Amino acid sequence: MSFASIPDHIAIIMDGNGRWAKAHGLKRIKGHEEAESSIHASVEFCGEIGVKYLTLFAFSTENWNRPKAEVAFIMKLLSSFIRKNIDSLDESNVRIRATGRLDDLPYDARNTLEKAMDRTADNSGLHLILALSYGGRAEITDAVRSIAEKVLNEELSPDKIYENTVQSHLYLPDVPAPEFLIRTSGEQRISNFLLWECAYTELYFTDVLWPDFRREHLVEALEEFNTRNRRFGRIEAGGQ
Ligand code: FPP
Repeated sequence: MSFASIPDHIAIIMDGNGRWAKAHGLKRIKGHEEAESSIHASVEFCGEIGVKYLTLFAFSTENWNRPKAEVAFIMKLLSSFIRKNIDSLDESNVRIRATGRLDDLPYDARNTLEKAMDRTADNSGLHLILALSYGGRAEITDAVRSIAEKVLNEELSPDKIYENTVQSHLYLPDVPAPEFLIRTSGEQRISNFLLWECAYTELYFTDVLWPDFRREHLVEALEEFNTRNRRFGRIEAGGQ
């Protein structure tokens, strides 16, 4: 299949793992386990069609408030996902990156992630960005804090703070804003994901639960993306 327009950057809120597990009479953690196949399918497909950045919301700053056992399970799943897949991701030229308050992660998850990021740092294919202990407000707060430090040290004058100053203090300043945000499982919220970056992002909501999400659902989503008319606050060319 071919699309007239392929977003350079797709962001996904992978929601509905718990409901998927419940619907199958399983424990919630089984839903997270099942999420791996959907991640594989999405990474593979995005790589094939030439998407440059895929950001997956894997764990939010708010998710720390879940039961301890579930948090521990997701952290273990993260490490085992990376260990299991690092060879094939590296062979596929995928560059693994992360965004969020990575210092909050337990040692093993952080260590595994950093090794994977180092190993794939020179890969030139899809950037797979895992949002971990990520919150949009936390990201903006952290950017404001580092800008304030520069002002305090007289490295920066307040009247020289522009939008691109904030942009350059985000976690991944080189990554362009996503053109397309997909959220699975029927919820129609941003839930503190990429708040600064999503200012002009096209939003897409599907009822499919994340563990059921496969390439045909991405195709449907991209067909919808291709019907959108992105004007960025301007009027149509030739408009009155
Ligand atoms: C949302 O489903 C999912 C999460 C909060 C965690 C997402 C975690 C993964 C996809 C697995 C770990 C990541 C990697 C990279 C292997 P939910 O639990 O909120 O579902 P519900 O809304 O149906 O309860």
